[in-house]
Amino acid sequence: MANLKKEGKEIGLAVIIVGDNPASRVYVNNKKKACEYIGINSYEYALKEDTTENELIDLIKTLNNDKKINGILVQLPLPKHINEEAVINTIDVKKDVDAFHPVNVGKIMIGNYDFLPCTPAGVMELIAESGIEIQGKDCVVVGRSNIVGKPQAMLLMQQNGTVTICHSKTKNLAEYTKKADILVVAVGKPNAITGDMVKDGAVVIDVGINRIAEKTLVGDVNFEECEKKASAITPVPGGVGPMTIAMLMKNTVKAALIQ
Ligand code: GUN
Repeated sequence: MANLKKEGKEIGLAVIIVGDNPASRVYVNNKKKACEYIGINSYEYALKEDTTENELIDLIKTLNNDKKINGILVQLPLPKHINEEAVINTIDVKKDVDAFHPVNVGKIMIGNYDFLPCTPAGVMELIAESGIEIQGKDCVVVGRSNIVGKPQAMLLMQQNGTVTICHSKTKNLAEYTKKADILVVAVGKPNAITGDMVKDGAVVIDVGINRIAEKTLVGDVNFEECEKKASAITPVPGGVGPMTIAMLMKNTVKAALIQ
C-alpha cells in the first residue's frame, strides 16, 4: 500500500484529548493507528481532566501557527467546565479536519466546502460505493446533533434526497422510519430502531456505538430484526466507524494540500 511518509510527504495531525473518557480514548487510538498506517505524523496531546479552557485554547493557538501541523482535532465531548464552542471557534478554519468550526459548517450549508464532517461524509461514501441512488429517495435521519444528524440531512438533500429529520421529541417515530428508503440512525440508544419500524428493501445505516457490556458494542439499530427487511444494512462495529476514520485521513491530506 502507498504510504505518504515513505513517498516523502510530511503531513501532521494533532489529536487533543482532555480527561480520560474510555470511549474517547479508543477513538483517539484508532485515529492514531490509521495515521500510522497511511503515513501521517500524528501528535497526541493528552491533557488532564482539570485542564482549563484557556490552557486548551492556548494549545490550539500554538498548533494553528505550527507549520508541521496540518490538521487539528479536539476529541469531543470535553469536560463540562470547558465551553466546546469557544474551543472549536479557536481552531484555524484551514486545519479544522472535523469541519466543526462555524465557518466550515456554514460552507456545508451553502454546498461549497473544503471539509465535510467525518461521520456523515463516511455515510455518504458508503452509500455511493454501494451503488445506491439517493436522488428522489425518501431519506429519514434520526438524530439532530451538530456532529451527525444535521450535516447528514444536509448532505442527503444536496444529493437530491427528500429528507426528514426525526429526534427525541418526534411523535410516532415509526410512522416516519417506515417510509424511509434510506434510514440513517444516530441517537446513541440501543434498539432505537426495531424490525417493525423498517420498510422492506430499505437501506439502513447505523451510526450508533453503545457499550452494553464490558466487551459488547451495539448500534442504535436492532441488527438481527432489521437485517431481515433491509436491502442493505451496516453492522456495528465495523460499519460506519471505520469510514469515519477514513474520512478523517482524507480531510487531513486535503488540509495539507490547501495549506
Ligand atoms: N466525538 C464523537 N465523534 C467525534 C468526531 O467525529 N470528532 C471528534 N473530534 N470528536 C467526536
